[in-house]
Amino acid sequence: MEKYPKEVQLKSGETIVLNPLQSDEMEKLIGFFQSLPIEEKMYLRSDVSHRENIIKRFGTLNYNIRYPLLATLEEKIIAIGSMYRAEFGWTRNLGEIRVVVSPSFQRKGLCTILVKELFFHAIATDMYKIQAEIMENQSSAITAFEHMGFKKEAVLHKHVSDIKGERHNLVIMSLDIKELWYLMEDFIQDKMYVT
Ligand SMILES: CC(C)(COP(=O)(O)OP(=O)(O)OC[C@H]1O[C@@H](n2cnc3c(N)ncnc32)[C@H](O)[C@@H]1OP(=O)(O)O)[C@@H](O)C(=O)NCCC(=O)NCCS
Repeated sequence: MEKYPKEVQLKSGETIVLNPLQSDEMEKLIGFFQSLPIEEKMYLRSDVSHRENIIKRFGTLNYNIRYPLLATLEEKIIAIGSMYRAEFGWTRNLGEIRVVVSPSFQRKGLCTILVKELFFHAIATDMYKIQAEIMENQSSAITAFEHMGFKKEAVLHKHVSDIKGERHNLVIMSLDIKELWYLMEDFIQDKMYVT
């Protein structure tokens, strides 16, 4: 946690700040979610038009279970990336990532920056695999996660409903970080033998 707050530059040149959500930032977070246009809210996991849904999700902070990382510009939230993990049980080493970027800051590398941060958080907290669950019609989100090395692992048919009640296929995309880590260790060791 010591590395935060952290300043990062977007492709477009703006310097933004990354910091885990603090307990006094709930109203700011509600403002961020409620300012999203309906077409962005439509496919989010919960209906963020209702403030109580946001409070249920983020109101009690426990970074061991839900780790929400905010991106802010001039104190205004412009994106959130969060990682959820089960406290115990057989999915305890699995992290579920969700990212929402304000439309005016999309395509500036912000999702990639947040996922990278969450990736290192996952490694530091002994997760083996991370996944993202995306409605099949959110092709831009699927492309963005593929761009970051996630692979489609399953498609669950008519599995979820959007906020209007329309049913959609759910795509599960994943990245096995444990395997990736071993490969990186091998790579680093190979380099060491060469020198
Ligand atoms: C999906 C989402 C998080 C992507 O955020 P972003 O900050 O725009 O993503 P990035 O700028 O890091 O994009 C990385 C790459 O993904 C791909 N990509 C992202 N958005 C895309 C789009 N609308 N169309 C096509 N490709 C896209 C591109 O390859 C992009 O690289 P490039 O810009 O260099 O070509 C954002 O569109 C969003 O918030 N959508 C609504 C919420 C959502 O669907 N979340 C995902 C479920 S967890």
